[in-house]
Formats: sequence, structure tokens, C-alpha cells
Amino acid sequence: MEITGPNLTLRLATPADAPALFELASDPQVTRFFSWGPYTSIEQPLAYIERLTGQRERGEQLDVLIVDHERGPIGVTGLVEFSHRDRRAIVGSWLGRSFWGSGANTEAKALVARLAFEHLGLDRVGAYADVENGRSQAALEKVGFVREGVLRSWHRHGESVHDVAMYGLLRDDFARSPLAAYPGRLSGEPPPAFVVVQPPK
Ligand SMILES: CC(C)(COP(=O)(O)OP(=O)(O)OC[C@H]1O[C@@H](n2cnc3c(N)ncnc32)[C@H](O)[C@@H]1OP(=O)(O)O)[C@@H](O)C(=O)NCCC(=O)NCCS
Repeated sequence: MEITGPNLTLRLATPADAPALFELASDPQVTRFFSWGPYTSIEQPLAYIERLTGQRERGEQLDVLIVDHERGPIGVTGLVEFSHRDRRAIVGSWLGRSFWGSGANTEAKALVARLAFEHLGLDRVGAYADVENGRSQAALEKVGFVREGVLRSWHRHGESVHDVAMYGLLRDDFARSPLAAYPGRLSGEPPPAFVVVQPPK
């Protein structure tokens, strides 16, 4: 499965992508707000890519590589915390430092939102941003996510506990957002474990 926009394609990662992920996420600025990283050995992105296969089969995590049509892999985005009953999931993303501010985040969010609403049948895509991650909060608000409040002591990174801002993008928010202007063409089929409502043929 892949979904293609004007400048980017979202596709599943393979072990051959490990060196690119290592290069991008061995930068502490990129992983500053994450429970993992920065990468210090190639085995870490390899283990991550290998874990994703089982997580996809079990419907736990649908991560895709963000691939720039000219520059190759530039980051990762993905959906987690699926609730089939409530037709929702959470999106998360990271980009290599040199791609911040390039517009890639907006297009990648547009493609993942299209996948979520049009092909998986979700009605809500949420997002978490550490309360200290001003850049991530501004990036979400810029593309139409609505800030809904703060979840206290929500994420644990080792022994440190973090409050996160909760954001949501509903199906109607997406239709009205700057993201809706980006076309996205799906090839192949989304992994069946994530399809909450089959789109009409
Ligand atoms: C989060 C991320 C994907 C956003 O992508 P991006 O390309 O940096 O986002 P954008 O540049 O489109 O938007 C960021 C906005 O925040 C603004 N900004 C930067 N630092 C800021 C700060 N400390 N506080 C508030 N706004 C800030 C930028 O000026 C920009 O707004 P503008 O386009 O109006 O100038 C990227 O920064 C990233 O990969 N960060 C590291 C991983 C991460 O934190 N992921 C999010 C986990 S919740």
C-alpha cells in the first residue's frame, strides 16, 4: 500500500530503509520529545522496522515512511491507538531536521488524513503534543487540528512524566482544513486490520 501526493509518497518501510532512518533520527533535536532515540546504532531502526510487520497484522500501529520524490525518505508518520468501535486513531509524525519548515509536514498530514478518513473509514484523528513542544502544537493548529485540552501525566519517558496537549481533527474539520486541498492517490490495499468501515466501491 502507498499513498502519493504532489511531492511525497507514504509507503511501508523495509529493512533497506534502516540506514536512512538512522541518519534522520540520530539527531537529538528530532527525538527530543519522544520516549525513544536518538538512534545510536543501525540495529535500532532495523528492530523498529521489523516490529512494524507484527504490529500491522495485529492492527496496533500503521507507520509509513514519508518519502520525498526527489530526496528519498525524510521521516515517518503513522496511526496508533485505533478504536474500531469509535472510529478513531492517533496520528504521530517526525521529520529529519533539514525538512522542518519545508511544507513536507503539511503534505504528509494531508496524505495520512486522506488515508484515515477516506480509506480506513475513521471519523476522528487525534494527535498528542508535549506541552513543551511549541513547534509541534503550532504545526498541528496550522493544518486544522483543534486543541481540546491538556492530558496530565500522559506520557512516561523513562522516569520523567509529561503532560500533553490533546488535538483532534474530525472528518468535517478535515474537509474544511488546508489539508483537503492536497490530492492523494492510493495504490494497493490498506492492511485489513485497520479498515474500520469499508469505503464504497
Ligand atoms: C513536529 C514536526 C513534524 C512539524 O513539522 P514542521 O515542518 O517543523 O512544521 P511547520 O514548519 O509546518 O510548522 C511549525 C510552525 O511552528 C512555528 N514554531 C516554531 N517553533 C515554535 C515554538 N517554539 N512555538 C510555537 N511555534 C513555533 C514555526 O514558525 C511554524 O509556523 P509557520 O509556518 O507559521 O512559520 C517537526 O517539527 C518534527 O519532526 N519535530 C520533531 C518530532 C516531533 O516533535 N514530532 C511531534 C511529536 S508530537
